[in-house]
Amino acid sequence: MPELAPIEYIRDYYEDSLSKADLFPREYGFYQSFLSYVKGASVLNVGCGPLFYEDLWHFGEVPQHYVGIDLNTNTFEYLEQSQHPRLAEGKNYVKSHDIRTEFLAESVFDWAAETDARFDSVFGVGVFATFGGDEFDRLMSLLWRVLNKGGHLVNVSWDGTYYTEQQYQEKLKYRFSGTDGPTPDELIDWVQKAGFKLMERRILTTDAQTYKWDSIHVSAFRK
Ligand SMILES: C[S@@+](CC[C@H](N)C(=O)[O-])C[C@H]1O[C@@H](n2cnc3c(N)ncnc32)[C@H](O)[C@@H]1O
Repeated sequence: MPELAPIEYIRDYYEDSLSKADLFPREYGFYQSFLSYVKGASVLNVGCGPLFYEDLWHFGEVPQHYVGIDLNTNTFEYLEQSQHPRLAEGKNYVKSHDIRTEFLAESVFDWAAETDARFDSVFGVGVFATFGGDEFDRLMSLLWRVLNKGGHLVNVSWDGTYYTEQQYQEKLKYRFSGTDGPTPDELIDWVQKAGFKLMERRILTTDAQTYKWDSIHVSAFRK
């Protein structure tokens, strides 16, 4: 098991993400608009992190049941305890749209192998491409298991990072990054190999100097 991220790490990740979204509206808008592929009554956000509510604004349809799973348990401590005004907005949105939310503080590998829950859409933002080789294949077969026939699998990933060594080591320790994930093209091949049909793929080339990534990759598949 990886070491768990302290709540301060989760808070900083959340606040930094909101600041970056303000600074880079083109980049955030690019992937957020693609979340319109997330549809249906039941939705699973794999490795949701503290952006659980933030992603919800961009779904193609308002779900009835929205589940976030993350092995960093402090994700959910933070989401429950923080008084951040943006989180309050997310919670109000959930209430006013009568969405049943559920937090699962465990590894998707353990949970998805056992659960009876099924979803119309399953998505991951910055998560699927952190797993490589057999782990990636296993993740896909588990996501196949929990997705309803005709349901959507949506991936968002970033390519070409410019982390400092310290940032990278911290991300590995807390399972925010991986070491042997697929290249963007491999990811498309590997997901299709698991049986999913590609519906659309888009790429945005970004300015590495300022954004600190080379590109953003989004793809949507159907089971
Ligand atoms: C790069 S972060 C992305 C967080 C969030 N989705 C976002 O958009 O910023 C990767 C997330 O995946 C979670 N994670 C990594 N391995 C996991 C696993 N086996 N099961 C569930 N969550 C996992 C991490 O705890 C972390 O929150």
